[in-house]
Amino acid sequence: MYICICKGVTDSAIREAVIQGADRMRDLKACLGVAGQCGLCACHTKEVLDQTRMEQSQAEPLSSNTPHLYQTA
Ligand code: FES
Repeated sequence: MYICICKGVTDSAIREAVIQGADRMRDLKACLGVAGQCGLCACHTKEVLDQTRMEQSQAEPLSSNTPHLYQTA
């Protein structure tokens, strides 16, 4: 789905950029151009950014110092 009509940027492109490390609005503006023209897409871009970051944090593996309840010998 197109999020930024002015620059032709989709939600998929925003998600991919976030996964690649663009984790702030200014990063997305710099690499994709979102919210750089009329600015109407800024709110939806931020929603996609926040949702993708939340999904990433939930998908992160447990750290090595986190005890495993089901650890096998
Ligand atoms: S819709 Fe994104 S800058 Fe206009």
